[in-house]
Amino acid sequence: MVEINVVGLSMGVLLTLIAVALHYSKGTGWQSTQDISQEVLDRRAETVPETDFPEPMNRSIGGGAAAVAAGASAEGAELEEGGEETAEETGPADIPEDEVEYFEVEFVKEGETIEVANNKTILESGEDHGWDLPYACRQGSCVSCAGQIQDGPSEDYVVHDNQQMLDDGELDDGYTLTCVAYPRGSFTIETGKAP
Ligand code: FES
Repeated sequence: MVEINVVGLSMGVLLTLIAVALHYSKGTGWQSTQDISQEVLDRRAETVPETDFPEPMNRSIGGGAAAVAAGASAEGAELEEGGEETAEETGPADIPEDEVEYFEVEFVKEGETIEVANNKTILESGEDHGWDLPYACRQGSCVSCAGQIQDGPSEDYVVHDNQQMLDDGELDDGYTLTCVAYPRGSFTIETGKAP
């Protein structure tokens, strides 16, 4: 005789019905939150100001690599330009010996006229002659070595290689910085005379 466990059977039927009901139900309508991380990153990238210099990667959000690449190529271009400049940079001191010209320069205070090469400064030439002429920086940045060329604008008689102290009026009055002045004509100079 088969015994039927009524309680067990009804539990089984109930569980089956629940499983079927869940299967066909539409759920709770809950959805996971939208992923906005990319949107937040984009918004932060917009707030980072553009710079003229290459940013380190960790500070430059979005486009850091491009900025670094652009910076690197600009730097490269500058270096190339710099290289050309250095190659072209020549001054009166670079005149080769076989092209040198000599001019007569009369030093009033020293009471003598000497020949000065156009690739040598007035100061150097005077010193080579044994005179103790005044100077300090020897690069055109003070007026310790100044002298006055008689008969007019000093730049009619000398070329200054980067003098930074005398203005146009003073040059017109004949003043010169002998440490950076190379002759391009014969003239008379009074040393130790500043404007
Ligand atoms: S020594 Fe300074 S400018 Fe000539």
